[in-house]
Amino acid sequence: MNNFTYQNPTRLEFGKGTISRLSALIPRDEKVILLYGGGSIKQNGVWEQVHEALKGYDLVSFGGIEANPDYETCLKSLEEIHRTSRTFVLSVGGGSVLDAAKFIGAAAWIQKNKPEILETHQPWDLITGEVKIQGALPIGAVLTLPATGSEMNANSVISWRSQKEKRGFASRHFYPQFSILDPETTFSLSERQTANGIADAFVHVVEQYLTRENNTPIQDRMAEGILKTLITEGPRVLKAPRDYDLRANIMWACTMALNGLIGLGTIQDWASHKIGHELTALYGIDHGRTLAIVLPGVLEHQKQAKSAKLLLYAKNVWGLYQGDDQVLIDEAIARTVLFFESLGIGTRFRDYPGIENAPEEVSAKLNDNHIGEEKQIDSKDIREILELRR
Ligand code: NZQ
Ligand code: ZN
Repeated sequence: MNNFTYQNPTRLEFGKGTISRLSALIPRDEKVILLYGGGSIKQNGVWEQVHEALKGYDLVSFGGIEANPDYETCLKSLEEIHRTSRTFVLSVGGGSVLDAAKFIGAAAWIQKNKPEILETHQPWDLITGEVKIQGALPIGAVLTLPATGSEMNANSVISWRSQKEKRGFASRHFYPQFSILDPETTFSLSERQTANGIADAFVHVVEQYLTRENNTPIQDRMAEGILKTLITEGPRVLKAPRDYDLRANIMWACTMALNGLIGLGTIQDWASHKIGHELTALYGIDHGRTLAIVLPGVLEHQKQAKSAKLLLYAKNVWGLYQGDDQVLIDEAIARTVLFFESLGIGTRFRDYPGIENAPEEVSAKLNDNHIGEEKQIDSKDIREILELRR
């Protein structure tokens, strides 16, 4: 097991009715900006619950944050924060709104505390790492879409559509102070968004688990538990979208998949995410779907290197014991594909018209990248991985 440090400061409020806790979580004297997306929160009652809980607060709202939040939209909210002197960022929505809140919180901090930096740099430089993130306004979240784990992690992913860019970055200042997870807010999710979230969380676990053996049995058993939960509960929740217990288990699985715990001391991959982000940047495919296309290609291409963990996965997650190692590994990869498809997610190029040139285009864009758990995957491999998904 590798050395690790773990400190996760996010307070979770999980369960029915927990949005009412907001006033206990945000000090009265904060000047709050409520960030939200395209309007789903105005249709499912979340908007009213948040406003009820924050009666009497100095509150302004800023909506229109896209799925795959756009840099330019974030800049507009920054102007609003400046104009109205906001001190607290409240994200109400899915991972996109929350990721935007993290970036906006960091950019607003610079704007307030080190404005001279913005004379020579643009806020995008916080995303590339050219400018170090030194702080962020306090962030809180009401999560309405289980998927990313953003509610309990230090990551953010921002897109810049006009530049065809999508970049992930992280800072310890990005942990939300609190996240409210009320499974009832997820009853209104469409099948497509529900499935996307399940696929995303599944691949988050796989990126931390299906790598190399590294003597991490506790992390491995936890990872397998999350995967098995997603496998059993995922298809069921699509059929029963208002089943509280199913929604609750999916929500908790998604948080646990990427709050850092299962990855402690492990060897991590993240190649599927790196390639997947390019499929979103170039062709606009939903994040969860890009992963369902790419992951089977990565597992197939890397099956020798990953064989010890793939065998564990075959046995402990899929209950496969009949046959030699190669048979078990191939069957486990086939089951993974079937699982995504059971969620209604296409896993091949033919399911996504217009992406025929992805092997050339993505590998060209990731030309200088070396990805995978041992940086063993180069742009030629990326091309081969995508070719496997035609
Ligand atoms: O915008 P609104 O109207 O709210 O609609 C959203 C959006 O259209 C809708 N939605 C959310 N909650 C709903 C709802 N519709 C009905 N009922 C509800 N309760 O769902 C759509 C998608 O929302 P979005 O926030 O984009 O989804 P998700 O949470 O999957 O976030 C995706 C983004 O997170 C990034 C992805 O790359 C992508 O940009 N990721 C962030 C990570 C992180 N911070 O750790 C890790 C992930 O790997 C991922 O990369
Ligand atoms: Zn993801």
